[in-house]
This record gives sequence, C-alpha cells and structure tokens, in this order.
Amino acid sequence: MHHQTYVDQLKGHVGESVTLKGWLYNKRSSGKLVFLQLRDGTGIVQCVVFKPNDEALFELADSLGQESSIVVAGTVKEDTRSSIGVELDVTAIEVLQNVHDYPITPKEHGTEFLMDNRHLWIRSRKQHAVLKIRHSVIKATRDYFDSNGFTLADTPVFTPAACEGTTTLFEVDYFGDTKAYLTQSGQLYNEATAAAFGKSYAFGPTFRAERSKTRRHLTEFWMVEPEVAYAGYEDMMDLGEGLILAIVERVLADRQEELKTLERDIAKLEAITAPFPRLHYDEAVRLLQEGHEKGELENRFEWGGDFGSPDETYLSSQFGTPVFVHHFPTAIKGFYFEIDKDRPECALGIDLLAPEGYGEIIGGGERATSLEYLEKQIESHNLPRDAFEWYLDLRRYGSIPHAGFGMGIERTVAWMAGIEHVRDTIPFPRMLYRLRP
Ligand code: 4AD
Ligand code: MG
Repeated sequence: MHHQTYVDQLKGHVGESVTLKGWLYNKRSSGKLVFLQLRDGTGIVQCVVFKPNDEALFELADSLGQESSIVVAGTVKEDTRSSIGVELDVTAIEVLQNVHDYPITPKEHGTEFLMDNRHLWIRSRKQHAVLKIRHSVIKATRDYFDSNGFTLADTPVFTPAACEGTTTLFEVDYFGDTKAYLTQSGQLYNEATAAAFGKSYAFGPTFRAERSKTRRHLTEFWMVEPEVAYAGYEDMMDLGEGLILAIVERVLADRQEELKTLERDIAKLEAITAPFPRLHYDEAVRLLQEGHEKGELENRFEWGGDFGSPDETYLSSQFGTPVFVHHFPTAIKGFYFEIDKDRPECALGIDLLAPEGYGEIIGGGERATSLEYLEKQIESHNLPRDAFEWYLDLRRYGSIPHAGFGMGIERTVAWMAGIEHVRDTIPFPRMLYRLRP
C-alpha cells in the first residue's frame, strides 16, 4: 500500500501514501506539532506530526535525536512554502536507531573539528551540495570525452619515475629492493595510449608531495588527462575550451538546487562563453607588469618566472571568462615539452586560468617529438634514463606531433561551487596535515 520512494521523487506522488527511508536531519517542535526534517540522500523533506491525530506517534517523533535512522510513512501534500514543493503528513515512524549524541549540531563548528568529522560532515546540506556538483562535473567530463571519440585508458598509480619533477614525489617501498612512486600524472602513459587509440584519456587519482598549505592544493587529487595524436598545443586550447563549456552547461542544467544551497552567484557561470582569450606568455607578462605599475600587484613580474597565485588571480580578473596562457619559458616547464622552433626559450605549454581567483585548472601542451632532444632533456633534468626507455620508444617507433593536458577536478569543482577551499570538493581530502579520517 505504501509505496517506497525518495525525496527527489515526491513531487510526482502528491496525495499518495509513501514510505521514505533516511535519517533525521533536524527537528523542531511547537506545542502540538513536530516538524521532522528527513534526509534520504536525494534531498530533505519536512515531515509533520500533529499531536491530536496520534499522541503516541507525536511522543515518538518528539523523542528523536539528530541523525536517528528512521523509516517514515505518510501522505504527500503540496506545500508552496517548501523549496521542494511538498511535505509529508506522517502516519507512522519506524525507528531503526534513536541517536542522542551526534557530534555535528546545527550550531557553528570550527573547520578542524568538521574536517576531523568529515565522515559525518558530508551528510550536511552544503557539503552534500558540493559533492553532488562534483558528481556532475565528473559525469560531464566523461561524457565529453566519450562522445568525442576518446578511448578511456587508465594509467598506473605505482610508477618507476617522475613525470612532473622529482621534488614532489611520494616514494613507496615496493617489495624491499625496488622503489615506486605514486603517480603525479598519467601523461607519459597517455602518450603511449594515444599512439594506440588516436585519442585517449585517463581519469584517476594523482599525487604530489607538495608542502603547500594553500586553498588550491591537495596531496591526492583527481585529474582527467586527454592525449591526442597528430595534434598541437592550439588543438588543446580548443579541446579544453569545449570541455569547460560542457561542464558549466551541465552544472547549470543539473545542479540548480545545489547552487542555490551554496548561494553561488550563477550569473558568473552563465557569463562563461567561448572563445576564451588566448594570451602568449609575453603578453601575460606585459599585463602583469602593467598591474604592478597601477599598484594592483605588489611584486613586479619578470619574464622567465612562474605565475604565483596573485598573478593568476590578476590575469584572470582582466576577463570574465577563463583565459589561456601559452608559450611558457622552457626553463620552468617539464622535460617533455615541445619548444617553439623560432624561439627555443619558449615551450608549447598551455595553462587555463579560471576566473574569480580559482587559479590554474588546466595544464598541458604539445610534446617533444625528437628522440635526440628528449634524450638530452632526460639527462639535463637528472632523470633516470633506464626508467624512460619505454617512453623513448614512442619516439623511435612512429613519432608524431601530439598534445594533451590535465584538468584538476577539485579546482574545477571549487570554481563551479564557488567555495573557498578545494578540501571541501572531495569526500575525504588528503593534505599536508591531514590523513584522517
Ligand atoms: O599542470 P599540471 O602539473 O600538469 C600535469 O601534470 C600534466 N602532466 C598534465 C598533462 O598534460 N596530461 O597539473 C594539471 C592540473 C592543474 O592545472 C591543476 O588543476 C591540477 O592538475 N593540480 C592540482 N590540484 C589540486 N592539488 C594540487 N596539488 C594540484 N596540482 C595540480
Ligand atoms: Mg601546471
């Protein structure tokens, strides 16, 4: 008789008797009424118990503590004041566990306390909303590559050598006599899979032993990395632009409720339109130096440097949309970049800077094709040659121009959700000082 359903389906059941299975999010009582906020993972609905209808049921409802696990039966009623348009007139409650000491109460808690209780905190409305947005960002990302001819070819987490510099490697003891490193990027393997499939992508966790305690850094984060055979750095700007547009579109279409919960200024997302500006590094340097002259940037940026957070924020604030920067100095880039033949001091790298101070969300570019050049680079970057022999094979057997990039999921989600710190964008963040829960 009672149809089991979910909060996000209730609108289609007005007038019907239904059962909901979930947890007590919050409770309010006033004389003859108890209002239970029931959450079931899909949403939160107000469930009303009226004392004169059933005294015992009223007492039971009134005794429930926050996060009690309950099954509630009742009649779905239209309610225009509710954000979901309905509420439930309760007819029965089955209590699986009545809880009375849930640590996270509706009062304010400090961030450290909430992070220590992350396993519980993710039940809270805002954290839940951020993680639903993460889900949509990932789904949009996968759909984008899957529908554009890419083959998913995931890459290993245990690797024998560095991809992004040796200073941020996590070392793992691999059966005593061998060392392994947690991957910083699947790129080198993507270059192999791109030669097999034409267009490939990897999507998985990546690791950086970075001692940075900023709002943009995790030690474990998820990266999606496409790689394309017979492509150049400009193709990667086209691909990255299309990806970002697909993500913004999906988040706006599917996550209105969550964006509202987070009080996200969605006009800023709606303003994201193509084409994104594409700045040569020279041009970016010029803008940064102007910013310094106008007193908007503390330090004068010099050609050859890597952008710091204030520089990225300043550059992106000049535009309402994300902005690409390309042709970074070869000296500050990875060993694998193709160089500009006319200006060898510039590498064919691209970065995408997100608006609103979210910083670099995409990094990538065109890969060097010459065996001799890469042999020299591996040597001058002090990389272990034997661990790269397989990679050099890609330049021995059918070397081609090719390019790719990596997009950090957490920074992208932080930007979409409009939240301060990347730690809230992943269910269980790993940071310099956090390995728990
Ligand atoms: O710019 P990165 O280091 O590029 C690479 O790893 C390339 N090998 C990718 C490729 O071409 N296939 O990292 C790519 C992106 C950054 O733009 C940023 O979004 C994210 O990964 N990222 C981080 N996100 C969170 N915490 C960190 N510590 C991050 N480091 C990089
Ligand atoms: Mg980068």
